[in-house]
Amino acid sequence: MIRANNLYARIGPNQVLRNISLTVSAGEMLAVIGANGAGKTSLLRALSGLLPLESGEIQFAEHDIGRKPAYLLACSGLVHVPQGRQIIPGLSVRDNLLLGAKNTGLANDVISDLLEQQWQRFPILKQRQQISGSALSGGEQQMLAIARGLMMRPKLFMLDEPSLGLAPQIVELIISTLRQLADEGLAIILVEQVAMLALESADRALVLRNGECAMTGAASELLNSRELVSSYLS
Ligand SMILES: Nc1ncnc2c1ncn2[C@@H]1O[C@H](COP(=O)(O)OP(=O)(O)O)[C@@H](O)[C@H]1O
Ligand SMILES: [Mg+2]
Repeated sequence: MIRANNLYARIGPNQVLRNISLTVSAGEMLAVIGANGAGKTSLLRALSGLLPLESGEIQFAEHDIGRKPAYLLACSGLVHVPQGRQIIPGLSVRDNLLLGAKNTGLANDVISDLLEQQWQRFPILKQRQQISGSALSGGEQQMLAIARGLMMRPKLFMLDEPSLGLAPQIVELIISTLRQLADEGLAIILVEQVAMLALESADRALVLRNGECAMTGAASELLNSRELVSSYLS
């Protein structure tokens, strides 16, 4: 689904990505973990066209996308749920979801089907569909951010710290929902600070340190890695 080779990017004087390569296939979940400032958000932004590459290549669904603008990538199925959720506070839950499908050029009946899928996946959002997005709890807002992304019919779904600030049961619910989406065929890149839970659910993992790949491999192997446990999971 996505293949990135030797990505380099900088923000002003800061080299935020150095020689990062990754692949994620349909049905697979890649966890990206690392300390604050390691470059996790920068990596997602580079993959989704929001941070220009200094060098490197990205292929998405067999096409070279390294220099394409973010909105075109989103319409072709590369969907990024940003850190901080970015719910539109003045809009209802339902209108936040419809905003996700806007500009995708989808027919109305397709959009209705997609909305119905979100209500089935997140019944709490259906119950609250008329209230303002800002009146939701943190966990509900994260569900809304995920559901809004799903309204764009992603092929690759990238999430930046969806668990931030949420209670442990909600975090489990969110991550198990993502696992289920991967099992249904989505390619997922999950950036997480809750490394343990992310590794337990992911197929593979990439550990970032100072913008570089410190470790990569099967998630189950990394879970048993003494080096990883001592640097990140202890
Ligand atoms: N807008 C910015 N201007 C300058 N430096 C930035 C900016 N955003 C991020 N950085 C720097 O880029 C590096 C990586 O940041 P980021 O990708 O946000 O890391 P993470 O998501 O892993 O916490 C950090 O050193 C951070 O200070
Ligand atoms: Mg970040």
